[in-house]
Amino acid sequence: MRRTIGQTFHNYNQVTSTNDLAREKAELGEEEGLVISADEQTAGRGRLGRSWIAPPGTSIQLSVLLRPRLSPRSAHGITQMAALAIANTLREIAEANPINIFPVVSLKWPNDVLLNGMKCAGILVETRVENETLVFAILGIGINVNFAMRIYPELSGFATTLSDVFGKQIDRSALRNSLLDNLDAYYRRLVNSESGPSDILKEWRAELGTLGQTVRVLTQTGIEVGIAEDVDIDGALLLRQADKMITLYSGDVTILS
Ligand code: BTN
Repeated sequence: MRRTIGQTFHNYNQVTSTNDLAREKAELGEEEGLVISADEQTAGRGRLGRSWIAPPGTSIQLSVLLRPRLSPRSAHGITQMAALAIANTLREIAEANPINIFPVVSLKWPNDVLLNGMKCAGILVETRVENETLVFAILGIGINVNFAMRIYPELSGFATTLSDVFGKQIDRSALRNSLLDNLDAYYRRLVNSESGPSDILKEWRAELGTLGQTVRVLTQTGIEVGIAEDVDIDGALLLRQADKMITLYSGDVTILS
């Protein structure tokens, strides 16, 4: 079967952000499936206006151009299928690099992949919507691979790298190939069946370590505390508070208990 994701692949030594390059190609009409990868980003970005950093040549930083026939409302399915693909890739890496205790891979709402409870990968999806139609989406993925997170003391309390967890350097090109294979398979599931987005949502929900926990959520408008009760059909977090249930579409979650 002809693959979609990764049939065209470009690797750069240095870019501003792989999402920017992929967007430029998308605007020029490039086919979906294009992957732009870089050894170094000088202006890598994360969600909520944050920057995304990794020492040159150590990690996975790539963007995929997608043109799914999804409504803009279902575009969260792209983040979810990518989270599942990354989680599967990390489990494959764990099987190929055995350590004493098999590391726990889990997902954190809305877009993180955790190894042993620490952030190891992040996802940033940026879209172009016109006349209520999704024209394209740029799926940006960063995975922390071969560096010691202690070099970033401001992150080391909640983030980790594969080399920190596995105690050795991990083959980046094997990791990237496995990631692209997993992304291709999950993307096919997302777009190829009527129930694709809801199947992906169910699987993603089942792997969310966040549900059932008391959490603090930093949103663009303030801080909310409550029990992370569930996610809705839009992938939004349903937070139970003393007297009401609130719906959060984005934010940064810290588990309190
Ligand atoms: C997050 O966790 O906040 C999302 C991080 C996404 C980082 C990736 S690295 C490749 C792509 N290019 C970027 O500038 N950002 C994404």
